[in-house]
Amino acid sequence: MPQNRFADVRRFESIDSTNRYLLDEARAGAPEGVVAVADHQTAGRGRLGRSWEAPAGANLLVSVLLRPAIDPGDRHLATTAVALAAIDAIRATGVAGVSIKWPNDLVDTAGRKLAGVLAESDLAPAAAADGQPPPVVVGIGINVNWPADESDLPPELAGLAVSVSQLAGAPVDREALLVDLLAALEPRAADLASPAGRARLAGDLRADCTTVGTRVRVDLPDGSFEGTATGISPEGHLVVDKPARGGDEERMRLHQGKLPRRDHAATFPGQRTGD
Ligand code: BTN
Repeated sequence: MPQNRFADVRRFESIDSTNRYLLDEARAGAPEGVVAVADHQTAGRGRLGRSWEAPAGANLLVSVLLRPAIDPGDRHLATTAVALAAIDAIRATGVAGVSIKWPNDLVDTAGRKLAGVLAESDLAPAAAADGQPPPVVVGIGINVNWPADESDLPPELAGLAVSVSQLAGAPVDREALLVDLLAALEPRAADLASPAGRARLAGDLRADCTTVGTRVRVDLPDGSFEGTATGISPEGHLVVDKPARGGDEERMRLHQGKLPRRDHAATFPGQRTGD
């Protein structure tokens, strides 16, 4: 394991959820850098209350505990840091063409999902144990050796998911991928701590984000609209241009959301940051 802040790696043959485990550890005072990795999860968590399932021993199911001393409004960049580190690690296997589907999926050039990231925070005072910054646990599930091929996928995932081994054309060593991921995460985690580093994370997200330039549908508490994702702001927000009355465009920045699997229409559950 790399001798950096991610040296404390806790391994589980089976656990309910590595995110749940690290959130509990954080509440008990665990410091930044603890890592939990599982061969199998019995209650793996996905975004928007969904579950995350993978056959035992095939994929990388890993969570990291971060305690970035940053404003709550910048904490979405912890997701970015892990997604970018995962891209770095996947590229090290020789697989190219992986990008970020905003805000938290890794996809191949055909838009098939290769990995998903789930960040969970606990901003309650009790979780800031010993005066440490509040925790954010970032978990990632990377399809490493499952699916082995398209026939592995249930019908509802046909054409929607892919694995690193499929793209590499050979089985991929999960342990080597984990080592590369944690090594790549060290400078990304360090970047969270400074304005220049956060700008670098946003810039790297901009370079690797496949959502920019696509049509998106945005659902907000006060209504829905269709627009065009035109960029990533210096703060790492998705910038969406929305047609306004009189042919003008209104610009909006979003820091949280969801893009549906099959097209580029987007459903954002309503986290607008202003403009
Ligand atoms: C998504 O919905 O796309 C995000 C999936 C995140 C899954 C990972 S697997 C390791 C970590 N532990 C969990 O319970 N979930 C995350």
